[in-house]
Amino acid sequence: MSFTVAIDGPAAAGKGTLSRAVAGAFGFRHLDTGLLYRATGMRVLDGLDPVAAAEALVPSDLEREGLRSAEAAAEASRAAAIPGVRAALLAFQRDFARDPDGAVLDGRDIGTVICPEAEVKLFVTARAEIRARRRFEELRAGGAETQFETVLADVRERDARDMDRADAPLRPAKDAVVLDTSDLTIAEATARAVQIVASRRRMP
Ligand code: DC
Repeated sequence: MSFTVAIDGPAAAGKGTLSRAVAGAFGFRHLDTGLLYRATGMRVLDGLDPVAAAEALVPSDLEREGLRSAEAAAEASRAAAIPGVRAALLAFQRDFARDPDGAVLDGRDIGTVICPEAEVKLFVTARAEIRARRRFEELRAGGAETQFETVLADVRERDARDMDRADAPLRPAKDAVVLDTSDLTIAEATARAVQIVASRRRMP
C-alpha cells in the first residue's frame, strides 16, 4: 500500500533537507519535483520550446550539471507558469507518489494538485530574508560570487511568480500542516517533520 508525504513551500524554505530526512527516517523514496522544472529550464536554455522541453525529459536530465544554478531556477520558474509544461510533468509525479515503499515529493503544488489525497501534507516556509540568507550561504559555500541583496531579490521575484501564476499557484493545501522554519535549527525542523509523519503513520 502506498503512503505519500507532500512537502510544499517557497524557494529555500528547507523542503529538500526535510524531505530527505523524512524519506530516510521511514525508508520512503524521495522526488525533488523542482528538478523536473529545472531540467525543463535547462532544455529551454538549450533552445527548446518549454512544452517540448518538458515532454522530452528523460531520467538523465535530472543529473545534468547546472540544475542548481540561479539561471536554471529562473528559467524553471518561468516554464512552471505554462500549463502545458505542468501537464507534461504530471503523470511522472503521480506514478512516483504511488511507490509501494512510500514516497515523499517536494515542490509547490504536491498537496494541492499532484497528490490531493496524500496521507501527510506539510507546508514548509520561512521569512524571505532568512531563506535568502540560507541560499546566499549555500551559493557562497559552493564558490559562487554573489551579493545577499541579489539573492534576496531573486527569492522575492520567484515567490511572486510562483504565488501569482494562475495554474497551480504556490499555496498551502487546506489540510496541510504549516511548518515555519524561520526560528528553528535544522535538527529542530527535522524532528518536527518526522514527528508529524510518524503520528499519521500510526493512524488506522
Ligand atoms: O524547488 P526549486 O527551487 O528547485 O523549484 C524551481 C522552480 O520550479 C520554482 O521556482 C517553481 C517551480 N516548481 C513548480 O512550479 N512546481 C513544483 N512542484 C516544483 C517546482
